[in-house]
Amino acid sequence: MGLHFEVDPPLTGALRASIVALWTDVTNAGGAVGFVGPVTGAEVQPVADAAFAAVESGVDRLLIATDDGELVALLFVVSNRFELKEHWRVLKRVMVTPHRQGRGYGAALMLEAERLARDLGLDAIQVTVRAGAGVERFYAGLGYREVGRLPGALRVGTGDDRDEIHLWLTLTS
Ligand SMILES: CC(C)(COP(=O)(O)OP(=O)(O)OC[C@H]1O[C@@H](n2cnc3c(N)ncnc32)[C@H](O)[C@@H]1OP(=O)(O)O)[C@@H](O)C(=O)NCCC(=O)NCCS
Repeated sequence: MGLHFEVDPPLTGALRASIVALWTDVTNAGGAVGFVGPVTGAEVQPVADAAFAAVESGVDRLLIATDDGELVALLFVVSNRFELKEHWRVLKRVMVTPHRQGRGYGAALMLEAERLARDLGLDAIQVTVRAGAGVERFYAGLGYREVGRLPGALRVGTGDDRDEIHLWLTLTS
C-alpha cells in the first residue's frame, strides 16, 4: 500500500468525475454515504457538486487518498455552519473504493483526518452512522464512542427504518 493523501486538491474535471464514480460505486456496493443504492452517477452528481462548492468556498475540506495515481478513498470535513460549533466538525462520506476495502485504507484515511482536524485546531470530530451494517465497529476501533442515537431516524426503504448513530472523538486531553 502506497497511499498518498491530499487536502483540498484542485477540483479538476477529472478529479470531480473520479469522485462521482467512486461515490456511485461505493453506494452500489452497499455503502452508506448519503444514498440508498442502486444509484447512477447522474443522481450522485448534484449532491457531489454541492459538496465541491462548499470545499471551493473554503467552508468544508476534502481529504483524498490516491494509490499510484488512482483515487481510492476520500472524506469531507464538514463545518456545522454555526458559530457555537466552530470548534468541532463532522466527517462525512467516508469511503474506500470497494475493491480495496478491508486492507487498512479506511483506518489510514481516518487517522489522516484526525491529524488534519488537530492541525485545524479542532477540539472534537463527529461521525454519523446508519445502523444496521456494523460500521460503527470500524469507528470504535479508532477511538470513536457512541454519544447518541436517533431511533429509526433514517428511512432507507419501506418498513426499513434505521437508527442514526452519533459517534464522537475528543481531540483535547
Ligand atoms: C467503512 C470503510 C470506510 C472502512 O474502510 P476499510 O478500508 O474497509 O477498513 P479497514 O480495512 O481500514 O478496517 C479497519 C478495521 O475496521 C474494521 N471494519 C472495517 N469495516 C467494517 C465494517 N463495515 N463493520 C465492522 N468492522 C469494520 C476492520 O475489520 C478492521 O478491524 P481490525 O483493525 O480489527 O482488523 C469502508 O468499508 C467503506 O468505504 N464502506 C462503504 C462506505 C460506508 O459505508 N462508509 C461509512 C459511512 S458512515
